[in-house]
Amino acid sequence: MERLEKQFEVHRYFEARDKAAFVAERAGLIRGIATRAKLGANKALIDALPNLEIISVYGVGYDAVDLEAAKAAGVRVTNTPDVLTGDVADLSVAMMLTASRGVIGAQDWVRSGDWQSKGSFPLQTRVFGKRVGILGLGRIGYEIARRCAAFDMDVAYRNLKPKDLAEDWTFESSAEALAERSDFLFVTLTGGAANKHVVDQKVIEALGPNGMLINVSRATNVDETALLEALEKKTLGFACLDVFEGEPALNPRFIALDNVLLQPHHASGTFETRKAMGKLVFDNLVAQFEGRPLPTPVI
Ligand code: 8YV
Repeated sequence: MERLEKQFEVHRYFEARDKAAFVAERAGLIRGIATRAKLGANKALIDALPNLEIISVYGVGYDAVDLEAAKAAGVRVTNTPDVLTGDVADLSVAMMLTASRGVIGAQDWVRSGDWQSKGSFPLQTRVFGKRVGILGLGRIGYEIARRCAAFDMDVAYRNLKPKDLAEDWTFESSAEALAERSDFLFVTLTGGAANKHVVDQKVIEALGPNGMLINVSRATNVDETALLEALEKKTLGFACLDVFEGEPALNPRFIALDNVLLQPHHASGTFETRKAMGKLVFDNLVAQFEGRPLPTPVI
C-alpha cells in the first residue's frame, strides 16, 4: 500500500461501505485494479469502469477474475506466479508430515501431562516410502513432487499431458486412478469452472479409509459435501485443507472432525513471499502505465 500510494492515486474500494456508490462516483478515474486472488474482479466491476486498463492480482490464482469480461473490455490481467511456489509446496508437505506423524496431538500430549500420566504417545503412520499422487503437475505440483521424491516416496501424477520431468514419476490417466494408487493425494489444480469438483465422491472413495487428501489449491476443485461425508463416515482417512468454500466462514462440520488438519489459507503466507508478491503487483501496474511489457501477464 505504501508503494502504491506513493506512485498512484489510490481509491480504497475495500474500505467503502457502499461499494456501488463508491464505484459510480469515480468510475471514469479508475485505470487499474489491485486485488487479491480470492476477491478478483467480476464482470459488473470491469464493465463499470470505462477507463480500466489492468487488473493486477496478488496471488497466482486468477479464477475470481472474469477473464472473458476483461478480454472483451481490452483489460490486461496479471498475477504473481513463481515467487510463491516454494512456500506453497513447503506448507503442503509440512501438512502431510504433521498430520501423518500426529505432531499437533503429540505436542498436546506433552503440554497436557499425558506423557507422564499415560505414557508413550500412540503410534503414528510412516510417510517415507509411501505412494503419493499429485493432481495437477504445474509449478506448485512439481515442487511438491520433488520434495516428496526427496522423502523416497513413490511419485505419480495426473496432468492434462504427461511431462518429461522425472523418469520414475508415473503418469496416471484419471484422477480416480491416481487416487486409487495413492496413500497421499495432493490437489494442485488451478481453480475455476474447468476443474470444479474434479475431486468428487468417486475420487475420494478411491483414496479410501487409509488415504490422506491435501488441498492447497481451491476449495472448488473438491466436492466439499462429498468430502465432509467421507470424513464423517471415515471412508476417507484424513484431509489437510488450506482452502474452504465460503472461507473464512468454513462449514462448522469441519470443526467437529478429528481427522482433519485445518489451515487458514496461508500457504503463501511468509514475509519473504508476500513481499515478493506485493512487488509484482506494483511492478505490473507501473509497467502498464509506463507502456512497458508486463512482467507476469495472464492476458
Ligand atoms: C494468497 C492464493 O493467499 O496465490 C493464490 O492464488 O490464493 C494465495 O497465494 C492470496 O492471494 C492472498 O490473499
